[in-house]
Amino acid sequence: MSFIARNLAERIATEIETDHATLLGGTKAADIRELLELRGILLFPRINLTDAEQLAFSRTLGELVEQGDKGLYKVTLDSKITPTAEYLRGTVLWHFDGFSDDVPARASILTARKTSPVGGQTEFANTYAAYDDLPAARKEALGKLRVVHTMAATQRDVFRDAPAAMQAVWASFPPKVQPLVWTHRSGRKSLLLGSSADWIEGMDKAEGQALLAELHEWTTQPRFVYRHEWHVGDMVIWDNCGTMHRVEAYPDDSGRMMHRTTLVGEEPIA
Ligand code: OGA
Ligand code: MN
Repeated sequence: MSFIARNLAERIATEIETDHATLLGGTKAADIRELLELRGILLFPRINLTDAEQLAFSRTLGELVEQGDKGLYKVTLDSKITPTAEYLRGTVLWHFDGFSDDVPARASILTARKTSPVGGQTEFANTYAAYDDLPAARKEALGKLRVVHTMAATQRDVFRDAPAAMQAVWASFPPKVQPLVWTHRSGRKSLLLGSSADWIEGMDKAEGQALLAELHEWTTQPRFVYRHEWHVGDMVIWDNCGTMHRVEAYPDDSGRMMHRTTLVGEEPIA
């Protein structure tokens, strides 16, 4: 049994060197969950879990979201493989998963099966650290704000000339109001942003959008960000309640294929 953790950057991301038996046995599950919450991103370089092993390992960490094939969802732009692939185009914008959920997914676990020859690297930003570094007066002011999240906001910048029918589909998803600052049960706070953040409740739209843009810029500064350059077999876990992520655009025919499992959320946004 081996389990060696090494920080990859000061404010985000830890790499873990371990073996299949340790991951599947669940003896380190509690440590992994704790590290995930502290560090936002955990990387298991070239760990090469099979689908069955990824599912079994994920289950040691929590309950799985029903998605894809028995809990394993294929992240690809090929809609013959994944019928919801079109929505994945929006993942090039900073986001967290499940903006309309009262209890967003706890975490996702992603294994690289095939990388893209160009693009396709994934960036993650620590939204706890970004909040922590704000000046006290700013924290106070932002703590009062509520943000309206919409599906249209996640899509309109990737489908610039969307036909009316497409826009109507986006509009059919009800908007969701969320606090800008998430106060977690632990007492820690994080910024809740992402491409779905469309406007700020009770604020002039343009003014609110300017503030959201400024906060996105703040949160995605290099000191809060880890960029992962994928090798086949790498596995990354992101804390979906304390990070945002985005993927660099990659060609439709790149064959890029990532296998994802997701842990059911445990904490309502408050
Ligand atoms: C996701 C996602 C990023 C990637 O699966 O939710 O945003 O790198 N994926 O494919
Ligand atoms: Mn995502």
